[in-house]
Amino acid sequence: KHFKNPKFVKEIKNPSGKGEVGNIRCGDIMHLQIKVDNNKIKDIGFQTFGCPAAVASSDVVCGLAMGKTLEEAKKITKDDIVKELGGMPKIKLHCSVLGIEALKKAIEDYEKHE
Ligand code: FES
Repeated sequence: KHFKNPKFVKEIKNPSGKGEVGNIRCGDIMHLQIKVDNNKIKDIGFQTFGCPAAVASSDVVCGLAMGKTLEEAKKITKDDIVKELGGMPKIKLHCSVLGIEALKKAIEDYEKHE
């Protein structure tokens, strides 16, 4: 569901923060943007050249982060994603960190320019 019909594959115009990460294991790239208002994530979107597992797990990251405070969003873990997806093959676990790392970078980017 999160791969075939992702809700958050979109570009956020005039984002408050942007994160870009590459996956060391496979070389795939993730771009993620956030819109912050009153210390909460009001909108979030990503674009990736990653695999279906990266798309699905990043869509879950965005869904979990939406509406959260920045502090809450920083605490999202790989385990939260895997739980939400109902499991993930071990060989694909490295794909699930792309979205989390991009989210953390986007928050850092926002905090740097705040
Ligand atoms: Fe590269 Fe999954 S194989 S993100």
